[in-house]
Amino acid sequence: MIFVLTGAGVSVESGLETFRDPGGLWDKVSVMDVASKAGFQRDPDLVYKFYNERRRKLAEAKPNNAHLALAQLARKGIPMALVTQNVDDLHERAGSKKVIHMHGQLKRALCQSCRKSIRWDKDLGPEDSCPACGGRLRPDVVWFGEEPYRMKDIERELKRADVFVSIGTSGTVYPAAAFVNMAKKLGAFTVELNIQPSLTRSEFDDGFYGPASRVVPEWVSSILFKRNGTKKPK
Ligand code: OAD
Repeated sequence: MIFVLTGAGVSVESGLETFRDPGGLWDKVSVMDVASKAGFQRDPDLVYKFYNERRRKLAEAKPNNAHLALAQLARKGIPMALVTQNVDDLHERAGSKKVIHMHGQLKRALCQSCRKSIRWDKDLGPEDSCPACGGRLRPDVVWFGEEPYRMKDIERELKRADVFVSIGTSGTVYPAAAFVNMAKKLGAFTVELNIQPSLTRSEFDDGFYGPASRVVPEWVSSILFKRNGTKKPK
């Protein structure tokens, strides 16, 4: 089974920004202002605006060849789990099913009172309330200090993995950053795909470097080639 972990780098060529590359999101705003409960309490309008802008930008973005190649891998019957730190929906729009969004989703709002998660495509603001209980809504995105979603499912999938592949992530945010070592200890072969070797490159058994829209389809082709034992497609 292949465990795929994706990060912001997989969506760069769809026009979405990363966090930590030069000029990335965390160069423009302070992380703790827009990605913490304290920041939301201090200045909710700033937080709503930050996620509204990202949601609008996402509406204009399209999946790229990296998202499409990962969807193809599952369609070809390769057992896999797709876990993303991304809050965009480009994996789903490329055709991937059962994506685990460990950091939440831009197109969902979370009720602060009853914790109901609601599909949300438009701008979100202080005037919006939970349709179930009338409580205040916030972006359904995991902030610093909060536990990522579906950790039990993720641990179960890590235990099943023969191959662990990390795509377009700097490997700096925990717990996702620890997955490579967990997978390795559990016996998986570990691979990094990134535009350049990340600071955690030494933790991987192998690495392929270049833009995700090129290296991910190449890696997917190599997996399908190994499985089929047929001529490599040109
Ligand atoms: P980062 O911004 O930390 O890292 C982006 C990675 O993408 C870097 O390793 C880049 O080298 C790589 N990259 C850039 N362009 C690429 C391309 N065209 N092809 C392939 N790789 C490319 O983003 P994440 O690792 O996803 O959390 O960040 C992890 C978490 O930190 C995010 O989910 C977010 C953030 O704080 C929350 O908001 C909770």
